[in-house]
Amino acid sequence: MTTLDLQERKEKLKLGGGEKAIASQHQKGKLTARERLEKLFDENSFVETGLFVKHRCTNFGMESKEAPGEGVITGYGTVNGRLVFVSAQDFTVIGGSLGEMHAAKIVAAQNAAMKAGAPFICINDSGGARIQEGVDALTGYSQIFFNNTLASGVIPQISVIMGPCAGGAVYSPALTDFVFMVDTTSQMFITGPAVIQSVTGEQVSAEQLGGSLTHTSKSGCAHFRCADEDTCIQEIKRLLEYLPSNNMDEAPVYESDDINRIDERLNSIIPASANQSYDMLSVIRSLADQGEIMQYQENFAPNIITCFMRLGGKSVGVIANQPKHLAGCLDINASDKAARFIRTCDSFNIPLITLVDVPGFLPGTNQEYNGIIRHGAKLLYAYSEATVPMLTVITRKAFGGAYIGMCSKQLGADMVLAWPTAQIAVMGAEGAANIIFSKEIKQAENPEAKRAEKIQEYEEQMMNPYVAAARGYVDDVIEPAETRKRLISALYAFEGKKVLRPQRKHGNMPL
Ligand code: HXC
Repeated sequence: MTTLDLQERKEKLKLGGGEKAIASQHQKGKLTARERLEKLFDENSFVETGLFVKHRCTNFGMESKEAPGEGVITGYGTVNGRLVFVSAQDFTVIGGSLGEMHAAKIVAAQNAAMKAGAPFICINDSGGARIQEGVDALTGYSQIFFNNTLASGVIPQISVIMGPCAGGAVYSPALTDFVFMVDTTSQMFITGPAVIQSVTGEQVSAEQLGGSLTHTSKSGCAHFRCADEDTCIQEIKRLLEYLPSNNMDEAPVYESDDINRIDERLNSIIPASANQSYDMLSVIRSLADQGEIMQYQENFAPNIITCFMRLGGKSVGVIANQPKHLAGCLDINASDKAARFIRTCDSFNIPLITLVDVPGFLPGTNQEYNGIIRHGAKLLYAYSEATVPMLTVITRKAFGGAYIGMCSKQLGADMVLAWPTAQIAVMGAEGAANIIFSKEIKQAENPEAKRAEKIQEYEEQMMNPYVAAARGYVDDVIEPAETRKRLISALYAFEGKKVLRPQRKHGNMPL
Protein backbone atom coordinates (compact mmCIF):
# COMPACT_ATOMS: atom_id res chain seq x y z
CA MET A 1 0.00 0.00 0.00
CA THR A 2 1.35 3.44 -0.89
CA THR A 3 0.97 6.67 1.09
CA LEU A 4 -1.13 7.98 -1.78
CA ASP A 5 -3.48 5.05 -1.40
CA LEU A 6 -3.75 5.78 2.32
CA GLN A 7 -4.61 9.44 1.69
CA GLU A 8 -7.20 8.52 -0.92
CA ARG A 9 -8.82 6.03 1.43
CA LYS A 10 -8.97 8.60 4.22
CA GLU A 11 -10.34 11.36 2.00
CA LYS A 12 -13.08 9.09 0.69
CA LEU A 13 -14.12 7.99 4.16
CA LYS A 14 -14.08 11.57 5.42
CA LEU A 15 -16.69 12.53 2.83
CA GLY A 16 -19.19 10.49 4.87
CA GLY A 17 -22.47 10.02 3.02
CA GLY A 18 -21.27 12.19 0.10
CA GLU A 19 -22.03 15.62 -1.36
CA LYS A 20 -25.78 15.07 -1.75
CA ALA A 21 -26.29 13.93 1.83
CA ILE A 22 -24.12 16.80 3.09
CA ALA A 23 -26.24 19.31 1.12
CA SER A 24 -29.38 17.78 2.59
CA GLN A 25 -27.90 18.08 6.10
CA HIS A 26 -27.16 21.79 5.49
CA GLN A 27 -30.64 22.29 4.10
CA LYS A 28 -32.07 21.09 7.42
CA GLY A 29 -30.12 23.88 9.14
CA LYS A 30 -27.55 21.47 10.58
CA LEU A 31 -23.76 21.29 10.31
CA THR A 32 -22.13 17.99 9.44
CA ALA A 33 -20.42 15.99 12.16
CA ARG A 34 -16.99 17.02 10.82
CA GLU A 35 -17.93 20.71 10.72
CA ARG A 36 -19.10 20.47 14.32
CA LEU A 37 -15.81 18.98 15.46
CA GLU A 38 -13.85 21.59 13.54
CA LYS A 39 -15.65 24.30 15.51
CA LEU A 40 -15.37 22.50 18.83
CA PHE A 41 -11.67 21.65 18.90
CA ASP A 42 -8.63 23.93 18.88
CA GLU A 43 -7.19 24.28 15.38
CA ASN A 44 -5.47 21.11 14.12
CA SER A 45 -5.79 19.42 17.51
CA PHE A 46 -8.42 16.80 16.63
CA VAL A 47 -7.11 13.24 16.23
CA GLU A 48 -9.53 10.77 14.74
CA THR A 49 -9.69 7.12 15.78
CA GLY A 50 -11.64 4.29 14.18
CA LEU A 51 -12.05 5.88 10.75
CA PHE A 52 -11.61 2.48 9.05
CA VAL A 53 -14.17 0.62 11.19
CA LYS A 54 -16.79 -1.25 9.11
CA HIS A 55 -20.11 -2.88 9.92
CA ARG A 56 -20.50 -6.61 9.38
CA CYS A 57 -24.24 -6.79 8.87
CA THR A 58 -25.55 -8.91 6.00
CA ASN A 59 -29.28 -8.53 6.62
CA PHE A 60 -31.53 -6.90 4.02
CA GLY A 61 -28.73 -6.26 1.51
CA MET A 62 -26.51 -4.51 4.02
CA GLU A 63 -23.45 -6.48 2.80
CA SER A 64 -23.24 -4.17 -0.21
CA LYS A 65 -24.05 -0.99 1.76
CA GLU A 66 -21.05 1.16 2.54
CA ALA A 67 -21.11 3.19 5.70
CA PRO A 68 -18.01 5.44 5.81
CA GLY A 69 -16.70 5.72 9.35
CA GLU A 70 -19.68 3.59 10.43
CA GLY A 71 -21.75 6.76 10.73
CA VAL A 72 -19.92 8.16 13.74
CA ILE A 73 -16.68 10.12 14.16
CA THR A 74 -14.65 9.42 17.29
CA GLY A 75 -11.40 10.74 18.69
CA TYR A 76 -9.83 13.35 20.93
CA GLY A 77 -8.34 16.83 20.83
CA THR A 78 -8.03 19.96 22.90
CA VAL A 79 -10.69 22.54 23.71
CA ASN A 80 -9.09 25.77 24.91
CA GLY A 81 -5.96 23.74 25.53
CA ARG A 82 -7.62 20.96 27.58
CA LEU A 83 -7.99 17.32 26.50
CA VAL A 84 -11.51 16.20 25.53
CA PHE A 85 -12.77 12.95 23.93
CA VAL A 86 -15.70 12.91 21.55
CA SER A 87 -18.15 10.93 19.47
CA ALA A 88 -20.20 12.69 16.80
CA GLN A 89 -22.88 10.82 14.89
CA ASP A 90 -22.81 11.45 11.14
CA PHE A 91 -26.40 11.72 9.90
CA THR A 92 -25.19 11.68 6.28
CA VAL A 93 -24.28 7.99 6.71
CA ILE A 94 -27.44 5.82 6.97
CA GLY A 95 -29.08 8.57 9.03
CA GLY A 96 -26.43 8.29 11.75
CA SER A 97 -28.18 5.06 12.76
CA LEU A 98 -26.47 2.98 15.43
CA GLY A 99 -25.39 -0.57 14.69
CA GLU A 100 -22.98 -2.97 16.40
CA MET A 101 -19.73 -1.36 15.12
CA HIS A 102 -21.02 2.23 15.36
CA ALA A 103 -21.68 1.53 19.04
CA ALA A 104 -18.28 -0.17 19.40
CA LYS A 105 -16.59 3.05 18.28
CA ILE A 106 -18.50 5.12 20.85
CA VAL A 107 -17.74 2.59 23.60
CA ALA A 108 -14.02 2.66 22.69
CA ALA A 109 -14.00 6.47 22.89
CA GLN A 110 -15.80 6.39 26.26
CA ASN A 111 -13.24 3.87 27.57
CA ALA A 112 -10.36 6.01 26.33
CA ALA A 113 -11.83 9.13 28.01
CA MET A 114 -12.14 7.26 31.30
CA LYS A 115 -8.56 5.97 31.08
CA ALA A 116 -7.22 9.41 30.21
CA GLY A 117 -9.39 11.15 32.84
CA ALA A 118 -10.83 13.62 30.36
CA PRO A 119 -14.40 14.86 29.65
CA PHE A 120 -16.47 12.97 27.07
CA ILE A 121 -18.74 14.81 24.66
CA CYS A 122 -21.33 12.79 22.74
CA ILE A 123 -22.97 14.58 19.79
CA ASN A 124 -26.28 12.91 18.89
CA ASP A 125 -27.79 13.17 15.41
CA SER A 126 -29.30 9.84 14.54
CA GLY A 127 -32.33 7.88 13.37
CA GLY A 128 -31.75 5.53 16.33
CA ALA A 129 -31.10 1.80 16.32
CA ARG A 130 -30.04 0.65 12.82
CA ILE A 131 -33.12 -1.31 12.02
CA GLN A 132 -31.34 -3.89 9.80
CA GLU A 133 -29.01 -4.85 12.66
CA GLY A 134 -31.76 -5.76 15.11
CA VAL A 135 -30.60 -6.99 18.48
CA ASP A 136 -26.93 -6.19 17.70
CA ALA A 137 -27.90 -2.52 17.62
CA LEU A 138 -29.76 -2.82 20.91
CA THR A 139 -26.75 -4.54 22.46
CA GLY A 140 -24.61 -1.59 21.33
CA TYR A 141 -26.89 0.83 23.15
CA SER A 142 -26.72 -1.31 26.30
CA GLN A 143 -22.93 -1.08 26.27
CA ILE A 144 -23.05 2.70 25.89
CA PHE A 145 -25.55 3.06 28.77
CA PHE A 146 -23.42 0.79 30.97
CA ASN A 147 -20.35 2.90 30.23
CA ASN A 148 -22.30 6.14 30.86
CA THR A 149 -23.07 4.77 34.30
CA LEU A 150 -19.48 3.65 34.97
CA ALA A 151 -18.14 7.05 33.93
CA SER A 152 -20.74 8.92 36.02
CA GLY A 153 -18.99 10.94 38.71
CA VAL A 154 -15.57 10.06 37.23
CA ILE A 155 -15.35 12.27 34.15
CA PRO A 156 -17.76 15.01 33.06
CA GLN A 157 -20.11 13.64 30.38
CA ILE A 158 -21.78 16.11 28.06
CA SER A 159 -24.52 15.12 25.61
CA VAL A 160 -25.30 17.39 22.70
CA ILE A 161 -28.52 16.85 20.77
CA MET A 162 -28.13 18.24 17.27
CA GLY A 163 -30.76 16.27 15.37
CA PRO A 164 -33.14 13.42 16.10
CA CYS A 165 -32.58 11.31 19.21
CA ALA A 166 -35.46 8.89 19.56
CA GLY A 167 -36.55 5.75 21.33
CA GLY A 168 -34.21 4.19 23.84
CA ALA A 169 -31.37 6.26 22.36
CA VAL A 170 -32.47 9.10 24.65
CA TYR A 171 -31.20 7.18 27.65
CA SER A 172 -27.56 7.88 26.98
CA PRO A 173 -28.10 11.66 27.28
CA ALA A 174 -30.36 11.04 30.27
CA LEU A 175 -27.52 9.24 32.06
CA THR A 176 -24.99 12.02 31.49
CA ASP A 177 -24.25 15.16 33.49
CA PHE A 178 -25.18 17.86 30.99
CA VAL A 179 -27.55 17.86 28.01
CA PHE A 180 -27.48 20.63 25.39
CA MET A 181 -30.21 21.09 22.76
CA VAL A 182 -30.44 23.30 19.69
CA ASP A 183 -33.65 25.17 18.85
CA THR A 184 -35.86 23.61 16.14
CA THR A 185 -33.25 21.14 14.81
CA SER A 186 -33.04 18.74 17.76
CA GLN A 187 -35.68 16.52 19.29
CA MET A 188 -35.71 13.82 21.95
CA PHE A 189 -38.60 11.47 22.64
CA ILE A 190 -39.23 7.87 23.60
CA THR A 191 -42.19 7.47 21.22
CA GLY A 192 -42.67 9.87 18.33
CA PRO A 193 -45.77 11.84 17.25
CA ALA A 194 -47.10 9.08 14.94
CA VAL A 195 -47.02 6.38 17.62
CA ILE A 196 -48.56 8.74 20.18
CA GLN A 197 -51.41 9.58 17.82
CA SER A 198 -52.13 5.93 17.10
CA VAL A 199 -52.08 4.94 20.78
CA THR A 200 -53.61 7.91 22.62
CA GLY A 201 -55.10 9.97 19.80
CA GLU A 202 -53.08 13.03 20.85
CA GLN A 203 -51.79 15.22 18.04
CA VAL A 204 -48.45 16.85 18.65
CA SER A 205 -45.57 17.98 16.46
CA ALA A 206 -42.07 16.57 16.95
CA GLU A 207 -40.88 19.99 18.15
CA GLN A 208 -43.74 20.40 20.66
CA LEU A 209 -43.20 16.86 21.88
CA GLY A 210 -39.45 16.79 22.25
CA GLY A 211 -37.89 20.08 21.14
CA SER A 212 -35.47 22.19 23.13
CA LEU A 213 -38.16 24.40 24.69
CA THR A 214 -40.10 21.39 25.95
CA HIS A 215 -37.08 19.71 27.50
CA THR A 216 -35.55 22.81 29.06
CA SER A 217 -38.78 24.22 30.52
CA LYS A 218 -41.32 21.38 30.95
CA SER A 219 -39.63 18.02 31.34
CA GLY A 220 -36.27 19.12 32.71
CA CYS A 221 -34.55 16.45 30.56
CA ALA A 222 -32.14 18.98 29.01
CA HIS A 223 -30.11 21.66 30.76
CA PHE A 224 -29.07 24.14 28.08
CA ARG A 225 -31.10 25.51 25.15
CA CYS A 226 -29.15 27.17 22.34
CA ALA A 227 -30.40 29.25 19.42
CA ASP A 228 -28.14 27.52 16.87
CA GLU A 229 -25.26 25.09 16.59
CA ASP A 230 -22.53 27.75 16.73
CA THR A 231 -23.92 29.15 19.98
CA CYS A 232 -24.25 25.63 21.32
CA ILE A 233 -20.57 24.87 20.69
CA GLN A 234 -19.55 28.16 22.35
CA GLU A 235 -21.67 27.30 25.39
CA ILE A 236 -20.11 23.82 25.68
CA LYS A 237 -16.67 25.45 25.73
CA ARG A 238 -17.85 27.89 28.41
CA LEU A 239 -19.22 25.06 30.55
CA LEU A 240 -15.94 23.10 30.30
CA GLU A 241 -14.14 26.07 31.88
CA TYR A 242 -16.11 25.59 35.11
CA LEU A 243 -15.33 21.86 35.30
CA PRO A 244 -12.30 19.79 36.24
CA SER A 245 -11.19 17.10 33.76
CA ASN A 246 -12.10 14.34 36.21
CA ASN A 247 -13.14 13.66 39.82
CA MET A 248 -9.53 13.65 41.10
CA ASP A 249 -8.84 17.08 39.67
CA GLU A 250 -9.83 20.64 40.49
CA ALA A 251 -11.56 22.99 38.05
CA PRO A 252 -9.17 25.46 36.39
CA VAL A 253 -8.58 28.69 38.30
CA TYR A 254 -8.97 32.00 36.44
CA GLU A 255 -7.95 35.52 37.28
CA SER A 256 -10.33 37.11 39.77
CA ASP A 257 -11.42 40.70 40.13
CA ASP A 258 -11.07 42.39 43.56
CA ILE A 259 -11.66 39.76 46.26
CA ASN A 260 -12.47 42.53 48.77
CA ARG A 261 -15.04 44.17 46.50
CA ILE A 262 -18.15 45.29 48.41
CA ASP A 263 -21.53 46.21 46.95
CA GLU A 264 -23.51 48.78 48.95
CA ARG A 265 -26.55 48.08 46.74
CA LEU A 266 -27.06 44.78 48.57
CA ASN A 267 -27.70 46.64 51.85
CA SER A 268 -31.03 47.84 50.49
CA ILE A 269 -32.03 45.08 48.08
CA ILE A 270 -34.46 43.38 50.50
CA PRO A 271 -37.88 45.11 50.14
CA ALA A 272 -39.57 46.62 53.20
CA SER A 273 -42.55 44.28 52.90
CA ALA A 274 -42.00 40.55 53.45
CA ASN A 275 -44.41 39.80 50.60
CA GLN A 276 -42.49 41.81 48.02
CA SER A 277 -40.04 40.08 45.75
CA TYR A 278 -36.62 41.00 44.41
CA ASP A 279 -34.35 39.41 41.85
CA MET A 280 -31.97 36.90 43.44
CA LEU A 281 -30.06 36.76 40.14
CA SER A 282 -28.88 40.32 40.71
CA VAL A 283 -27.51 39.26 44.12
CA ILE A 284 -25.66 36.35 42.52
CA ARG A 285 -24.21 38.52 39.76
CA SER A 286 -23.03 41.02 42.34
CA LEU A 287 -21.12 38.25 44.17
CA ALA A 288 -19.56 36.61 41.08
CA ASP A 289 -16.10 37.34 39.68
CA GLN A 290 -16.61 39.82 36.82
CA GLY A 291 -20.38 39.44 37.42
CA GLU A 292 -20.32 36.32 35.22
CA ILE A 293 -22.55 33.30 35.78
CA MET A 294 -23.66 30.28 33.73
CA GLN A 295 -27.15 29.08 34.55
CA TYR A 296 -28.01 25.38 34.64
CA GLN A 297 -31.65 24.61 33.74
CA GLU A 298 -32.43 28.32 33.53
CA ASN A 299 -36.06 27.88 32.43
CA PHE A 300 -36.98 24.76 34.39
CA ALA A 301 -38.28 25.37 37.94
CA PRO A 302 -37.26 29.05 37.87
CA ASN A 303 -38.24 29.29 41.56
CA ILE A 304 -34.77 27.94 42.24
CA ILE A 305 -31.62 29.18 40.51
CA THR A 306 -28.71 26.84 39.90
CA CYS A 307 -25.62 28.23 38.24
CA PHE A 308 -21.85 28.14 38.01
CA MET A 309 -19.76 31.20 38.77
CA ARG A 310 -16.29 31.95 40.10
CA LEU A 311 -15.34 33.41 43.46
CA GLY A 312 -11.75 34.55 43.85
CA GLY A 313 -10.97 32.73 40.59
CA LYS A 314 -12.41 29.38 41.73
CA SER A 315 -15.37 27.63 40.20
CA VAL A 316 -18.39 27.25 42.54
CA GLY A 317 -21.95 26.01 42.13
CA VAL A 318 -24.76 28.24 43.38
CA ILE A 319 -28.19 27.11 44.55
CA ALA A 320 -30.53 30.01 45.33
CA ASN A 321 -34.24 30.51 45.92
CA GLN A 322 -35.71 33.01 43.46
CA PRO A 323 -38.39 35.14 45.23
CA LYS A 324 -39.59 36.35 41.81
CA HIS A 325 -41.09 32.93 41.00
CA LEU A 326 -43.59 31.21 43.31
CA ALA A 327 -42.13 33.40 46.09
CA GLY A 328 -39.08 31.11 45.98
CA CYS A 329 -41.01 28.10 47.34
CA LEU A 330 -39.52 24.64 46.99
CA ASP A 331 -41.61 22.30 44.84
CA ILE A 332 -41.05 18.94 43.16
CA ASN A 333 -39.18 20.29 40.14
CA ALA A 334 -37.06 22.70 42.18
CA SER A 335 -36.06 19.88 44.52
CA ASP A 336 -35.08 17.61 41.61
CA LYS A 337 -33.19 20.39 39.85
CA ALA A 338 -31.23 21.46 42.91
CA ALA A 339 -30.50 17.91 44.11
CA ARG A 340 -29.08 16.89 40.72
CA PHE A 341 -26.97 20.05 40.51
CA ILE A 342 -25.61 19.57 44.05
CA ARG A 343 -24.57 16.00 43.21
CA THR A 344 -23.00 17.09 39.92
CA CYS A 345 -20.90 19.72 41.71
CA ASP A 346 -20.00 17.40 44.58
CA SER A 347 -18.86 14.68 42.13
CA PHE A 348 -16.45 17.12 40.55
CA ASN A 349 -15.07 18.89 43.64
CA ILE A 350 -16.93 22.14 43.00
CA PRO A 351 -17.82 23.95 46.27
CA LEU A 352 -21.46 24.89 46.88
CA ILE A 353 -22.84 28.31 47.76
CA THR A 354 -26.48 28.36 48.90
CA LEU A 355 -28.50 31.58 49.03
CA VAL A 356 -31.67 31.23 51.06
CA ASP A 357 -34.95 33.12 50.85
CA VAL A 358 -37.55 30.39 51.13
CA PRO A 359 -41.06 30.61 52.60
CA GLY A 360 -41.47 26.81 52.60
CA PHE A 361 -42.54 23.91 50.41
CA LEU A 362 -45.28 24.68 47.89
CA PRO A 363 -48.68 23.65 49.29
CA GLY A 364 -51.23 21.76 47.16
CA THR A 365 -52.73 18.38 46.34
CA ASN A 366 -50.82 18.30 43.07
CA GLN A 367 -47.54 18.52 44.94
CA GLU A 368 -48.54 15.99 47.60
CA TYR A 369 -50.01 13.45 45.14
CA ASN A 370 -46.95 13.65 42.93
CA GLY A 371 -44.61 12.96 45.79
CA ILE A 372 -43.16 16.22 47.13
CA ILE A 373 -42.14 14.16 50.17
CA ARG A 374 -39.83 11.88 48.22
CA HIS A 375 -38.66 14.61 45.83
CA GLY A 376 -37.92 17.07 48.64
CA ALA A 377 -35.99 14.28 50.37
CA LYS A 378 -33.55 14.26 47.43
CA LEU A 379 -32.50 17.77 48.35
CA LEU A 380 -31.85 16.85 51.99
CA TYR A 381 -29.98 13.75 50.87
CA ALA A 382 -27.85 15.54 48.28
CA TYR A 383 -26.68 18.22 50.73
CA SER A 384 -26.11 15.75 53.57
CA GLU A 385 -24.08 13.50 51.29
CA ALA A 386 -21.95 16.26 49.75
CA THR A 387 -18.39 16.64 51.04
CA VAL A 388 -17.23 19.74 49.14
CA PRO A 389 -16.97 23.06 51.01
CA MET A 390 -20.51 24.39 51.55
CA LEU A 391 -21.35 27.97 52.45
CA THR A 392 -24.86 29.25 53.14
CA VAL A 393 -26.14 32.83 53.16
CA ILE A 394 -29.64 33.52 54.49
CA THR A 395 -30.90 36.76 52.98
CA ARG A 396 -34.50 36.77 54.23
CA LYS A 397 -36.98 33.94 54.86
CA ALA A 398 -35.75 30.56 56.06
CA PHE A 399 -38.85 28.78 57.26
CA GLY A 400 -39.49 25.27 58.49
CA GLY A 401 -38.35 22.20 56.56
CA ALA A 402 -37.28 24.42 53.68
CA TYR A 403 -34.78 26.18 56.00
CA ILE A 404 -33.24 22.80 56.72
CA GLY A 405 -33.42 21.75 53.06
CA MET A 406 -31.48 24.80 51.89
CA CYS A 407 -28.23 23.62 53.47
CA SER A 408 -28.61 24.50 57.12
CA LYS A 409 -25.62 24.05 59.42
CA GLN A 410 -26.68 20.56 60.51
CA LEU A 411 -27.10 19.38 56.94
CA GLY A 412 -23.43 20.05 56.33
CA ALA A 413 -22.85 23.78 55.79
CA ASP A 414 -19.33 24.73 56.86
CA MET A 415 -20.30 28.35 57.37
CA VAL A 416 -23.75 29.93 57.66
CA LEU A 417 -23.93 33.68 57.25
CA ALA A 418 -27.13 35.69 57.70
CA TRP A 419 -28.08 39.16 56.62
CA PRO A 420 -29.73 41.33 59.31
CA THR A 421 -32.98 40.90 57.33
CA ALA A 422 -32.93 37.11 57.82
CA GLN A 423 -35.97 35.50 59.43
CA ILE A 424 -35.22 32.00 60.63
CA ALA A 425 -38.33 30.36 62.07
CA VAL A 426 -40.68 27.42 61.88
CA MET A 427 -43.11 29.46 59.78
CA GLY A 428 -44.15 33.03 58.87
CA ALA A 429 -45.41 35.30 61.67
CA GLU A 430 -49.05 35.34 60.55
CA GLY A 431 -49.40 31.56 60.39
CA ALA A 432 -47.56 31.13 63.67
CA ALA A 433 -49.65 33.72 65.55
CA ASN A 434 -52.91 32.21 64.22
CA ILE A 435 -51.97 28.82 65.65
CA ILE A 436 -50.31 29.53 68.96
CA PHE A 437 -52.57 32.46 69.96
CA SER A 438 -55.81 31.13 68.41
CA LYS A 439 -57.72 31.07 71.72
CA GLU A 440 -56.60 34.53 72.76
CA ILE A 441 -57.52 35.93 69.35
CA LYS A 442 -60.99 34.29 69.40
CA GLN A 443 -61.78 35.45 72.92
CA ALA A 444 -60.57 39.02 72.42
CA GLU A 445 -63.04 41.90 72.23
CA ASN A 446 -61.45 42.93 68.96
CA PRO A 447 -60.01 39.75 67.41
CA GLU A 448 -58.43 41.53 64.46
CA ALA A 449 -56.56 43.99 66.68
CA LYS A 450 -55.44 41.08 68.88
CA ARG A 451 -54.26 39.13 65.83
CA ALA A 452 -52.20 42.10 64.61
CA GLU A 453 -50.72 42.54 68.09
CA LYS A 454 -49.76 38.87 68.34
CA ILE A 455 -48.28 38.81 64.83
CA GLN A 456 -46.11 41.78 65.75
CA GLU A 457 -45.10 40.16 69.04
CA TYR A 458 -44.04 36.98 67.20
CA GLU A 459 -42.20 38.98 64.55
CA GLU A 460 -40.25 40.92 67.14
CA GLN A 461 -39.27 37.85 69.11
CA MET A 462 -38.63 35.27 66.42
CA MET A 463 -38.30 36.75 62.93
CA ASN A 464 -34.65 37.66 63.01
CA PRO A 465 -31.26 35.96 62.63
CA TYR A 466 -30.19 36.47 66.26
CA VAL A 467 -32.10 33.56 67.83
CA ALA A 468 -30.33 31.12 65.46
CA ALA A 469 -27.02 32.97 65.92
CA ALA A 470 -27.40 32.66 69.70
CA ARG A 471 -27.43 28.88 69.30
CA GLY A 472 -24.52 28.92 66.82
CA TYR A 473 -26.69 27.70 63.91
CA VAL A 474 -25.68 30.92 62.17
CA ASP A 475 -21.95 31.68 62.37
CA ASP A 476 -22.24 35.39 61.82
CA VAL A 477 -24.70 38.12 60.93
CA ILE A 478 -23.07 40.25 58.26
CA GLU A 479 -23.61 43.44 56.35
CA PRO A 480 -25.00 42.35 52.94
CA ALA A 481 -22.50 44.59 51.11
CA GLU A 482 -19.67 42.38 52.42
CA THR A 483 -21.08 39.05 51.30
CA ARG A 484 -18.61 38.45 48.43
CA LYS A 485 -15.62 39.18 50.62
CA ARG A 486 -16.87 36.89 53.39
CA LEU A 487 -17.67 34.03 50.99
CA ILE A 488 -14.24 34.18 49.36
CA SER A 489 -12.53 34.19 52.75
CA ALA A 490 -14.58 31.15 53.87
CA LEU A 491 -13.89 29.40 50.57
CA TYR A 492 -10.14 29.72 51.15
CA ALA A 493 -10.58 28.60 54.77
CA PHE A 494 -12.35 25.36 53.82
CA GLU A 495 -10.31 24.65 50.70
CA GLY A 496 -8.62 21.63 52.27
CA LYS A 497 -11.82 20.17 53.75
CA LYS A 498 -11.66 16.40 54.18
CA VAL A 499 -14.65 14.33 55.26
CA LEU A 500 -14.66 10.70 56.36
CA ARG A 501 -17.89 8.75 55.96
CA PRO A 502 -18.90 5.26 57.12
CA GLN A 503 -17.93 2.44 54.73
CA ARG A 504 -20.83 1.25 52.59
CA LYS A 505 -21.52 -0.04 49.11
CA HIS A 506 -23.57 3.04 48.28
CA GLY A 507 -26.29 5.03 49.95
CA ASN A 508 -29.92 4.52 49.01
CA MET A 509 -30.91 7.93 47.74
CA PRO A 510 -34.68 8.53 47.45
CA LEU A 511 -35.49 8.58 43.71
C1 HXC B 1 -31.64 2.35 9.43
C2 HXC B 1 -32.13 4.53 8.98
C3 HXC B 1 -32.63 4.72 10.27
C4 HXC B 1 -32.60 3.61 11.15
C5 HXC B 1 -32.81 6.58 9.23
N1 HXC B 1 -32.27 5.71 8.36
N2 HXC B 1 -33.05 5.99 10.41
N3 HXC B 1 -31.64 3.35 8.56
N4 HXC B 1 -32.08 2.45 10.69
N5 HXC B 1 -33.04 3.70 12.40
C6 HXC B 1 -31.85 5.98 7.00
C7 HXC B 1 -33.01 6.24 6.09
O1 HXC B 1 -33.52 5.03 5.59
C8 HXC B 1 -32.34 7.06 4.99
O2 HXC B 1 -31.62 6.18 4.16
C9 HXC B 1 -31.32 7.88 5.75
O3 HXC B 1 -31.11 7.18 6.99
C10 HXC B 1 -31.80 9.28 6.07
O4 HXC B 1 -33.07 9.19 6.66
P1 HXC B 1 -34.32 10.03 6.14
O5 HXC B 1 -35.53 9.35 6.62
O6 HXC B 1 -34.20 10.27 4.67
O7 HXC B 1 -34.09 11.41 6.90
P2 HXC B 1 -35.18 12.40 7.46
O8 HXC B 1 -36.25 12.62 6.47
O9 HXC B 1 -34.42 13.57 7.97
O10 HXC B 1 -35.84 11.66 8.72
C11 HXC B 1 -35.07 11.37 9.84
C12 HXC B 1 -35.85 10.43 10.82
C13 HXC B 1 -36.32 9.18 10.02
C14 HXC B 1 -37.03 11.20 11.39
C15 HXC B 1 -34.88 10.08 11.93
O11 HXC B 1 -35.22 8.64 9.28
C16 HXC B 1 -36.85 8.12 10.91
O12 HXC B 1 -37.99 8.19 11.38
N6 HXC B 1 -36.05 7.06 11.15
C17 HXC B 1 -36.42 5.93 11.92
C18 HXC B 1 -36.50 6.31 13.37
C19 HXC B 1 -36.76 5.12 14.23
O13 HXC B 1 -37.91 4.65 14.37
N7 HXC B 1 -35.68 4.53 14.79
C20 HXC B 1 -35.73 3.44 15.66
C21 HXC B 1 -36.04 4.04 17.04
S1 HXC B 1 -36.12 2.83 18.28
P3 HXC B 1 -31.45 6.42 2.58
O14 HXC B 1 -30.71 5.22 2.12
O15 HXC B 1 -32.81 6.56 2.06
O16 HXC B 1 -30.65 7.69 2.48
C22 HXC B 1 -34.58 2.86 18.82
C23 HXC B 1 -34.37 1.88 19.89
C24 HXC B 1 -33.13 2.16 20.63
O17 HXC B 1 -33.74 3.57 18.45
C25 HXC B 1 -33.17 1.30 21.85
C26 HXC B 1 -32.05 1.58 22.78
C27 HXC B 1 -32.26 0.86 24.06
